[in-house]
Amino acid sequence: MTVTEEGLDNAAQPEPQDRRSAMLEKIAALDAEHAKAAAGGGEKYIQRHQARGKLLARERIELLLDEGSPFLETQPLIGWGSDFPVGGSIITGIGVVEGVECMIVANDPTVKGGALNPYSLKRSFRAAEIAEKNGLPTINLTESGGADLPTQKDIFIPGGKGFRDLTRASARKQPSISVVFGNSTAGGAYVPGMSDYVIMVKEQAKVFLAGPPLVKMATGEDTDDESLGGAEMHSRISGSSDFLAVDEHDAIRQARRVVARLNWRKRGPEPKPFHEPDLDPDGLLDLIPTDLKEPFDPREAILRIVDGVGPGNTNGDQAFDEFKPLYGTSLCVGWARLHGREIGILANARGVLMSEEAQKAAQFIQLANQKDTPLLFLHNTTGYMVGTEYEQGGIIKHGALMINAVSNSTVPHLTVIMGASYGAGNYGMNGRAYDPRFLFTWPSAKSAVMGPQQLAGVMEIVARESAEKKGEVFDAEGFKGVKDMVEGMVEEQSLPFFLSGLGYDDGVIDPRDTRTVLGLCLSAIATQEIEGAMNFGVFRV
Ligand code: COA
Repeated sequence: MTVTEEGLDNAAQPEPQDRRSAMLEKIAALDAEHAKAAAGGGEKYIQRHQARGKLLARERIELLLDEGSPFLETQPLIGWGSDFPVGGSIITGIGVVEGVECMIVANDPTVKGGALNPYSLKRSFRAAEIAEKNGLPTINLTESGGADLPTQKDIFIPGGKGFRDLTRASARKQPSISVVFGNSTAGGAYVPGMSDYVIMVKEQAKVFLAGPPLVKMATGEDTDDESLGGAEMHSRISGSSDFLAVDEHDAIRQARRVVARLNWRKRGPEPKPFHEPDLDPDGLLDLIPTDLKEPFDPREAILRIVDGVGPGNTNGDQAFDEFKPLYGTSLCVGWARLHGREIGILANARGVLMSEEAQKAAQFIQLANQKDTPLLFLHNTTGYMVGTEYEQGGIIKHGALMINAVSNSTVPHLTVIMGASYGAGNYGMNGRAYDPRFLFTWPSAKSAVMGPQQLAGVMEIVARESAEKKGEVFDAEGFKGVKDMVEGMVEEQSLPFFLSGLGYDDGVIDPRDTRTVLGLCLSAIATQEIEGAMNFGVFRV
């Protein structure tokens, strides 16, 4: 039995429940949450929107994308657990248009008229970041009531970044296209305003800084929507629109034509031919123990995610070539291919990270940078080892070594949180704060500064010592209620929906979809050249 940042690692405990049924239950709950996001503003607002002869936001996306191509939606659960609808009145994700991977950002006008609340803003900022880091063009499908007025204090000042990002993307040669289907007024007018290409739908688009009532108030002028900001006016008179579309289908067709003429070239590595995994991805459902303190072998996951060697292989090829397999065995690292693309993988094997594991990780990350190879981090860690022996052995400096390597590595990083992700282990394994290009979570994941029991226990010790220092009697019985409450709260806040709701991942995924999701990410990443770093900070050795 070992003790880590997360607490006791009592690996000997028997598995009490069926792993598959527990995972399937969690996936069913995930599907229900995704359905809520897909339902937008609900039946009443959907019907009203359709009665106006308009396409729904998801229909617009579907028509925009190449037929049969996938859409990698990012952050669909944002806002979960808040007072705002799940998804944040906006849909973001990577889709293929005329063979080009683009970031697509679509307002959902059925949710509060498409007004942007603090979660919509967070989601759109993350979409802009993904587009920037991976060098993707952006297509905005615009129809929004602008800032959510009751929460304007959280929107107005930070919101300006959205327009700044669009024009900076343009300067980086990452084009932006805005298709205006409806309201895009006041600050919202700067979405088409800052875009490189603008298409407006006849008799639908309304793009002005101030509508007729405000103009009347400000200047006394009597005017109307069409003269102030209609598609005809902007296409024929102001020049703020480049293309006039007769209807929504025509607008989407024209957007596809614009992309077809971008003269787009991917600059990253080409994929090699590949085989499907050697082990069945369905087996991932049997992998995760219901009690995360029980370890599992990540090679079981890796061989179900990466390319297989295929039948009849006599070359001695291996799907996963492990590096340093006999050293620092709590961390398994090695090389593989995924959808024909080279990757290095770091996966926790027995949860705890010790000095050897940290040093092995730092060396491996440097090797990946030396050969310009992206890295995939698979989390199931209880954190770095604690205790006198390990402190004296330099666990802090070795953990710092690993964190240095992760922080200064410039090859693209992908992270999947499969199980536990506690303490500084979350950092060393390239958690959200370390800017992975993409981070996805399995429904079985849990992330927190430490385990709930450990956290509540630490709080009790601190409270007891504080009372003793003051000469007071510690009320252990009374503190029990606080302890239970804290334990429950930390457990709840470490779960994937909660963390996804806050925007700490790019989505919670069915483990069986991991290979496809990572394949799409690696393809988007290959839009740009991959260049590893050979300069790291000072390594404390
Ligand atoms: N902030 C908060 N809520 C908003 C909103 C905004 N900017 N715009 C619309 N809503 C809400 C409405 O109050 C309504 O809520 P309810 O159904 O719970 O009563 C819901 O969204 C739908 O609005 P509605 O006006 O019925 O929809 P519509 O499709 O006919 O019109 C707009 C949509 C966006 C054109 C219209 O609502 C509007 O002009 N909104 C204000 C736009 C504005 O001035 N924004 C400030 C820009 S910075």
